[in-house]
Amino acid sequence: MLDLINKVHDENRQGEAFAPFPVDENHYKKHFYIESYGCSMNFADSEIVASILQDQGFGATRNMEIADLIFINTCSIREKAEQTVRKRLTDFKKLKRARPGLLVGVLGCMAERLKAKFLEEEKLVDMVVGPDAYRTLPGLIEEAETGQKAVNVLLSRDETYADIAPVRLDSNGVSAFVSIMRGCNNMCSFCVVPFTRGRERSRDAESILAECTNLYNDGYKEVTLLGQNVDSYYYVNERSDETVTFASLLEKVAQIGSDLRVRFSTSHPKDITDEVLHIMAKYENICKYIHLPVQSGSSRVLQLMNRTYTREWYMAKVDRIREILPDCGISSDIIAGFCTETVEDHEDTLSIMEYSRYDLSYMFFYSERPGTLAARRYQDDIPLEVKKRRLQEIVDLQGRLSRESNLLDLGKTFTVLAEGPSKKNPADWMGRSSQNKVIVFPKPEGLKKGDYVKVKVTDCTQATLLGRVEE
Ligand code: SAH
Ligand code: SF4
Ligand code: F3S
Repeated sequence: MLDLINKVHDENRQGEAFAPFPVDENHYKKHFYIESYGCSMNFADSEIVASILQDQGFGATRNMEIADLIFINTCSIREKAEQTVRKRLTDFKKLKRARPGLLVGVLGCMAERLKAKFLEEEKLVDMVVGPDAYRTLPGLIEEAETGQKAVNVLLSRDETYADIAPVRLDSNGVSAFVSIMRGCNNMCSFCVVPFTRGRERSRDAESILAECTNLYNDGYKEVTLLGQNVDSYYYVNERSDETVTFASLLEKVAQIGSDLRVRFSTSHPKDITDEVLHIMAKYENICKYIHLPVQSGSSRVLQLMNRTYTREWYMAKVDRIREILPDCGISSDIIAGFCTETVEDHEDTLSIMEYSRYDLSYMFFYSERPGTLAARRYQDDIPLEVKKRRLQEIVDLQGRLSRESNLLDLGKTFTVLAEGPSKKNPADWMGRSSQNKVIVFPKPEGLKKGDYVKVKVTDCTQATLLGRVEE
């Protein structure tokens, strides 16, 4: 159970690997295979990498056996995430021994964290490429093809890949991720992201709007605007002098089409403004769902975490959301067993969960990451069994909160964006409500992916609503 929880994060994709569908296996002479781990931003980056590689004449393949290049886009957020990557690398190394021409590249946060050290630790890796260095992949591949080891882990202050049109990998053709910023300037003491992703920078607003408009014109019905801290988005258009904040960006994206759903992730509780909440209220197509990670319910621990808000401040933010957006879904990230956490601190976390009535949470036990503020300043002093026990209590409570939240939806009707067949039974289809809840329902005749349907909820489990389409 704990393993599963540690695997599942942002949009349920944390730690879940995917490989692209073949774009056109006969069209390209050479092929690449890419697997992604970590947050949605890593998945979005893999689509940038795919675009850069495709321009170099490499086609995407789902079949490792025919690949000339294998890439693994990695995550460093917890030790477990890194272990998963190392395990996977052993599989690639076996392939490489059998096919010496095959090149293996490590991309993303682990590449950035370990830099050239990676090559010493993992001898059969040919390329190590950090998240801001993907434009240099063609040169690095050439270098690796001559038998040299190729490394570029330079971080940038301004790279946003704004001009690169992502090649959509494994897409359902209905929803897509759009990166609006990179890096993070918050120094949460437990977090490795500022070190692996560098300084925060916002992407050119026009290029974001162009990408969303193209997706809409291609039939997509949902875009999720991505950043570690989307509410601090800030862009000044030098030509028009116009300042674009997150609230104004959200409004511009919402105006592309009233049947284009807009989502975003992640909101840092210190930065989400009333202005954003009012824009959400104004546009029906901006989904009523906010991922608002609390991390801990104890003001003392929050201070050690350097989250820059208190328990009371967070609760007031939840009140404000409920006031302006009464039907809004709220989810959270929670860390159990941070340095010095007492039983009282842990109970504060449980009570803030009750207060916030989260529909869903991503829950983890604290994993010390080398180089972070917490690793340098505090002792990782909570024994693993205690961390796991507290995490289990958090998981159990969230189970009850999710069930209670779902029970409240019985008998209600939601507008659902149909995404496709449900995994369990292909006669059933699944989609999401505006509040991001998964709803499963028997497929009516003629329903297509990307259609909106009204579904009345008739039953539920802890994780899913079940319903039927209303005429
Ligand atoms: N930018 C987002 C979070 C990105 S990381 C935010 O500010 O909320 C996703 C989640 O991983 C974090 O919210 C946190 O709950 C968890 N996490 C990050 N570092 C961790 C660590 N060292 N140990 C355990 N969980 C961690
Ligand atoms: Fe990490 Fe904090 Fe930045 Fe989120 S806001 S990525 S938790 S440093
Ligand atoms: Fe992991 Fe890097 Fe994302 S550390 S969570 S892939 S920003």
